[in-house]
Amino acid sequence: MSPEKLLKEMTRKEKIGQLVQLYGRNVLRREPGTDKPVKDSFELTDEERSRIGSLLDYSMVDGATDGLTTFMSEEIGGKIPPICMHDVIHGCDTIFPISLGLACSFDPELMRESSRIAAEESKFHNIHTVFAPMADLARDARWGRVMESCGEDPLINSRMAAASVEGFHEGGVSCCVKHMAAYGEVESGREYNCVQIGERMLREAHFPAYKAAVDAGADLVMTSYNTVNDIPATASKMLHSDVLRGEWGFEGLVISDSGAVRELIPHGFAADKKSATKAAWLAGVDMDMSSDCYLRNIETLMDEGVISEEELDNACLKVLKLKEKAGLLNDDFKPYTLEERNGNILTVGYLNFAEKCAEASAVLLKNNGVLPISKSVKKLAVIGPFADTEEILGNWICFGAQHYNKGIIGTVKSELIKKMPDCEITFEQGCSWGLDDKTEDFTAAVQAAKNAEAVVLCIGEHQLHSGEGNSRTDITLPEAQMKLAQAVIEANPNTSVLLFTGRPLAITELDGIAPAILCMWQPGTSGNKAAVNLLLGDVNPSGKLTMSWPRVVGQCPISYRSFNTGRPCWSGDIQKKRSMTSNYIDEFTYPLYPFGHGLSYTEFKCSSAGLSDKELSDNSEIKAFVKIKNIGKRAGAEVVQLYIRDRFGSVVRPVKELKEYKKIFLAPDEEVLVEFKIDEEMLRFWRADMTYGSEKGSFVAMLGTNSRDIISFDFELK
Ligand code: NOJ
Repeated sequence: MSPEKLLKEMTRKEKIGQLVQLYGRNVLRREPGTDKPVKDSFELTDEERSRIGSLLDYSMVDGATDGLTTFMSEEIGGKIPPICMHDVIHGCDTIFPISLGLACSFDPELMRESSRIAAEESKFHNIHTVFAPMADLARDARWGRVMESCGEDPLINSRMAAASVEGFHEGGVSCCVKHMAAYGEVESGREYNCVQIGERMLREAHFPAYKAAVDAGADLVMTSYNTVNDIPATASKMLHSDVLRGEWGFEGLVISDSGAVRELIPHGFAADKKSATKAAWLAGVDMDMSSDCYLRNIETLMDEGVISEEELDNACLKVLKLKEKAGLLNDDFKPYTLEERNGNILTVGYLNFAEKCAEASAVLLKNNGVLPISKSVKKLAVIGPFADTEEILGNWICFGAQHYNKGIIGTVKSELIKKMPDCEITFEQGCSWGLDDKTEDFTAAVQAAKNAEAVVLCIGEHQLHSGEGNSRTDITLPEAQMKLAQAVIEANPNTSVLLFTGRPLAITELDGIAPAILCMWQPGTSGNKAAVNLLLGDVNPSGKLTMSWPRVVGQCPISYRSFNTGRPCWSGDIQKKRSMTSNYIDEFTYPLYPFGHGLSYTEFKCSSAGLSDKELSDNSEIKAFVKIKNIGKRAGAEVVQLYIRDRFGSVVRPVKELKEYKKIFLAPDEEVLVEFKIDEEMLRFWRADMTYGSEKGSFVAMLGTNSRDIISFDFELK
């Protein structure tokens, strides 16, 4: 039946029910497989249960695979099938690297295809809508959710968000960009905290990626938990009505984050559930996730004339249209069965693609030549808490954890054994991954290191220590792991560190002693395979950081897209500190590893860089160009980056903004000319009067293979 026709047949109460999303478990009457009634915090009546429009995480409920139809008739008794939504962040069954890792590939095509695969798998779990992409820009590594983001750059974030939306659609699910807005800017990196932000920063740094997802066709937008300038985002008319719908023309569904409507009460913005409902509704929120505010208050607000029938119809129609898109309104709608799912997840093709993604995400942070490890090594020690574990998938792993210990994921140790059958491989864990592990005795690990020709030391941050609710004030390596690293590296200088992490870590101390550090992030289902391919040089690392790595946590938030200040702390010599400048007295201001940084096993040389013209007009364009040559012995990929700075403006401008990049693959001795177009449009910004446009004057174009080591050229916009 068409949504419009269905709407005409619905009662007011039924329409309201469509605007409510609850956890699958909340809606069940009995614990799955038992006669025990569920503990339902909302104490739903059967009548209420029968009209819930959407379920969250329903597919996690045991027996959900029996199908929604059975569920509807036996559990709910309603007539319109619920639409099932789920967090499919970096994979469903086949887990890809965390988004912060995948973004380091600088290859949106990988994001698109991994999202497509995630969608294909989601469908077989009867998931109709995924809560992704997460497009929040993140500059503060203390915030646990940086792992879900693509990092600190608006351009990268936008390209990745758009690619992800396209991929989900190709794979056949609808998707929800989140979290509107500026969640990544939470004060002190503390989860769910408040955000104070100027409108220009909001528009230039944060909005672009959400908008890119909307322009790519995202079906839903999720609100964020934080306040934005003292208004909870879930009650922000400015965000959802003025910007999202008014300026960007978004016609889809706005859904609150889980419990966020009710949380307007503890925020101190609403006195009770009725006023919370009113505030969210008037801001433009259509669907209430995981609270009973809308379910139990919309009708009263309608009786009081706050919400009109027409408004209710409009919101309800959006839900029905999503259901139509998912096929849920077809008379012959049939959910997928367990049998259908089994042949369609974790296919060889998916796992191979996940391996490719993990390889492209890895960032070689440091290498004094110990990597790659020679295949002729006869004695190898693999040491550390991440050397023999499958727990390297990341946070938000959907169904990923159901596939542990089935020979699908493997560990660094087991993959090394497979790839080096003639090598004697010893393993020592050394210590645990616990943040407060107090291990002091590393005798066995040191002995193993001493006995080996080469060592792979697998350390970092456990997957449970980043993600939602996992902000940290200390982002160094846990003490025991750092001590293990010192002991092992001292015992055998031919040690390569394989670093697993969900966020940039402050590893200045490790960087000082480790001969090589290869950051794998949390690389997903095929991540340990990929790690071994990289360690042994079968694959050449090519990832580039999309988030700066601070030297110490006190530098957070830190970003290459910073401002000069009236007293810049360096001019030319970045090592030299000057007093009374924008400085720290106890640390440098620059990061340990800058945005765009990432090494390779080969070497690239830039030459003949320049601009085609020193003057640009509104209607012309100039070219920035640079020759790049692979002067090493292996084939490899390099990412050439173009940054621009507007020297003077009606407002101060960032010292650098990434405007374009190209990832190129070069065989040994191969050389290419990389060209970038520069036109007036690239120079626009939100000016002093909050109009969007460029300003005539001097600019600097910067070319480089990271954001620090650049060649600069001046030009004028006439
Ligand atoms: C809260 C998270 O902030 C959001 O990203 C997620 O989609 C919802 N919970 C649903 O799980």
